[in-house]
Amino acid sequence: LEFGSADDMNEASSELLRGIRVAPSILSADFARLREQVGEVLDAGARIVHVDVMDGHFVPPITVGPLVVAALREQVGQAGAMLDVHLMIERPERHVADFVQAGADSITFHAEATPHVAYTANLIRESGAGAGVAINPATPVGALAEVVELLDMALCMTVNPGWGGQPFIGHSPQKIERVRAIVGAETAVEVDGGIDPDTAPRCRDAGASVFVAGSAIFGSPDPGNAYLAIAAAAGAA
Ligand code: DX5
Ligand code: ZN
Repeated sequence: LEFGSADDMNEASSELLRGIRVAPSILSADFARLREQVGEVLDAGARIVHVDVMDGHFVPPITVGPLVVAALREQVGQAGAMLDVHLMIERPERHVADFVQAGADSITFHAEATPHVAYTANLIRESGAGAGVAINPATPVGALAEVVELLDMALCMTVNPGWGGQPFIGHSPQKIERVRAIVGAETAVEVDGGIDPDTAPRCRDAGASVFVAGSAIFGSPDPGNAYLAIAAAAGAA
């Protein structure tokens, strides 16, 4: 395996991650109407669709895998949007190839889930996707420090991973500031958990640029309008 290329992610995805974006998480969508629900947020302007993958080990629940990424690929791609895959699974390096092949544009894995953080980030980039590292609320921001140059995105969890609909951890903005200070201006800082029109601007002020929202969008009777409300609050494109 040859390492070292810094921008293997496609240019369109790279451009999307440079902006202020709200990324609807399908975890809270109605999976029996997934295409329709994703269509509503794409029509409203969403350009990053967040897919939460859970393995029943790293976190207790089991959710979805590459099949669902593949099922969304065409619809999301035709809208000029990207698929942002958040792996809450142990040993993520073993599954990178399957998710890239399924159509993941970016893959974010947890620093707590593998002893091989740098290897995994390199592997994701070498496979042609954007690489992100996520840290749990209790994980110090220093976990990101030695891999900054390998990352397209840092994900600062604002709840403990595993479930949608949890309350935002109130002291997260101070941590987001420390994450931003470590990764610099060029790397996307994503926040995930409890994001709504109230918490998004607090995260934005602290340096976040990509705002994942699940229940605040798909728990609403009108996901398109709920997306727009968070996008407006966060100052998103
Ligand atoms: C939780 C997932 C989130 C989840 C967020 O572990 O990573 O992406 O969908 O849900 P809300 O926005 O409801 O907190
Ligand atoms: Zn997530």
